[in-house]
Amino acid sequence: MKYKALVTSEENKTFVNSIEKLDLSSLPEHDTLIKVKFSSLNYKDALSASGNKGVTRNYPHTPGIDAAGIIEKTSGTKFSEGDEVIVTGYDMGMNTYGGFGEYIKVPEDWIVKKPDNLSLSESMAFGTAGLTAGLCLRKLLNHGLKPEDGNVFVSGVTGGVGIISLMLFSKLGFEVSAITGKTEQEDLLKTLGAKQIIDRNTLDVDLIAPLQKPIYSGGIDAVGGNILSNLICSTSQRSAIACCGMVGGLNLDTSIFPFILRGLTLFGIDSAESLIEVKEEVWGNFASSWKLSNIDENIKDIDLNDLPGEIDKILKGEQIGRIRIVYD
Ligand SMILES: NC(=O)c1ccc[n+]([C@@H]2O[C@H](COP(=O)([O-])OP(=O)(O)OC[C@H]3O[C@@H](n4cnc5c(N)ncnc54)[C@H](OP(=O)(O)O)[C@@H]3O)[C@@H](O)[C@H]2O)c1
Repeated sequence: MKYKALVTSEENKTFVNSIEKLDLSSLPEHDTLIKVKFSSLNYKDALSASGNKGVTRNYPHTPGIDAAGIIEKTSGTKFSEGDEVIVTGYDMGMNTYGGFGEYIKVPEDWIVKKPDNLSLSESMAFGTAGLTAGLCLRKLLNHGLKPEDGNVFVSGVTGGVGIISLMLFSKLGFEVSAITGKTEQEDLLKTLGAKQIIDRNTLDVDLIAPLQKPIYSGGIDAVGGNILSNLICSTSQRSAIACCGMVGGLNLDTSIFPFILRGLTLFGIDSAESLIEVKEEVWGNFASSWKLSNIDENIKDIDLNDLPGEIDKILKGEQIGRIRIVYD
């Protein structure tokens, strides 16, 4: 049987994306076959689709680190045919064919049963970006961060991780400073709960000072580089930052001062390899106490044919909100 998928191929050392019909037998030998109903686009997918060998070693390949769909066949013991499920991360979309195809085949240990009160379509409005925002928030709340502690920040706020971080913080009553390169999006960001907008260019500079005015009780950083370096130095006593991204650079310029003089905690988040129980907990929160009634508002729904153009945009940092791929 044939299915439709985006295929990234290497041709003369360049990488091209095309929509092709593949045979089901091209999927890997895992226990569970899922008919994908929705996927979503993440920065990592764009890296895979543009030949980043740190993400995907071998081509041709079908990217897509996210998929939500219905189990068509399983030889495992945890799920049954017809179950509605969510798969994010682990090796899917990296070196295992991913959600940019109408079918995936994965080990059952990678699968989360969709919670009640969250639709498959809503789950892919979150996708890995949302899950990552949720994992960051979980770390900060478990650390003890509370709205009364003061202002928090979100960097890369118009991106996938950033926008859902902002929405989640707002839902839980935090006062959020939104750090963005797109200050023209002020109205949108304020509608989503941002109390103030900060131009990222003011922070995207060499370390201003090893200890700066203590403004933030915590935050979620999706950017890294100079921006995170400066934010680390602007935190108040006992604060915590969860960092997950590197669009602004891989390196950190910091000193020990914020850690030993202000008791700062810096958490690193890796959503792909998070324990499945932790993923289940966060998906459960999205269906209950962290339910975002407006999650569908900043989503652009596309089909497979539109993906190559959207991949180019995310690589240029031009994406606003989330892209959801909808299958027939
Ligand atoms: N650790 C994990 O588990 C995990 C999971 C998911 C994503 N990530 C990482 O998190 C980051 C964000 O992912 P995403 O899906 O949210 O990507 P995205 O949708 O492309 O958003 C990234 C945002 O960062 C800002 N930005 C872009 N280029 C920048 C630059 N040169 N300097 C500073 N800021 C820049 C932009 O927002 P503004 O214009 O508003 O500043 C952009 O919208 C990526 O590095 C991704 O790989 C990590």
